[in-house]
Amino acid sequence: MGKDVIVACDFSSKAEVMSFLDKFTEEKPFVKIGMELYYAEGPAIVREIKERGHKIFLDLKLHDIPNTVKKSMSVLSRLDVDMTNLHAAGTVAMMEAAVEGLTRPDGTRPMLIAVTQLTSTSQERMESDLLIEKPLDEVVMHYASCAKKAGLDGIVCSPLEAGKVHDRCGENFVTVTPGVRFADGEVGDQVRVTTPAKAKEIGSDYIVVGRPITAAADPVAAYRRCVAEFVG
Ligand code: C5P
Repeated sequence: MGKDVIVACDFSSKAEVMSFLDKFTEEKPFVKIGMELYYAEGPAIVREIKERGHKIFLDLKLHDIPNTVKKSMSVLSRLDVDMTNLHAAGTVAMMEAAVEGLTRPDGTRPMLIAVTQLTSTSQERMESDLLIEKPLDEVVMHYASCAKKAGLDGIVCSPLEAGKVHDRCGENFVTVTPGVRFADGEVGDQVRVTTPAKAKEIGSDYIVVGRPITAAADPVAAYRRCVAEFVG
């Protein structure tokens, strides 16, 4: 499994993201494009960043009826992204349809990752709003198993959970983990954080890092520090 650092490009315009990426003259980081940038600039921004030589994780978290997700995934697959995602709450049938839609005529496809329970959902809210009365970590592990059953490649989870996910779903089941901070950095609004080095130790396959890199005085140096700690 190739470990890598994915830079969360949480910008709202092409001008901002391009001026950020222009700073990287030597390396071509794997980047995450989320809803904010995608809805602002459309699929053209994906093509442009891809043409510059970056791998892309398109973080649009699809969740709809299986047929709609299948057709949408087929469109995203033609954008030639390297990784994309959906909500496991859409059911195994929806996830299977997504894999089908994403698979290109030659049998290849981008990696497909499931979001389990969002980290913004607490045990309390899950019970009161979603009427799910099991322990949150059990729900996360069950959704991970469903994602595996549907043929997905892995899940988004906290780096602190990566080891448990591998124990349950196998070493090859990919863990993509946000919530990463440098030991001497600001935590911001993230709650359960860990360092790139610790994420490596626990077994994350990809760390998703936003503000510790994008808001750093020297983003290239911060990116290199992440790679040095996580990939080694
Ligand atoms: O700036 P920061 O490093 O906190 O960015 C983390 C990125 O990962 C953001 O794009 C955020 O939306 C995303 N993310 C997260 N927690 C999740 C899922 C995604 O922080 N559970």
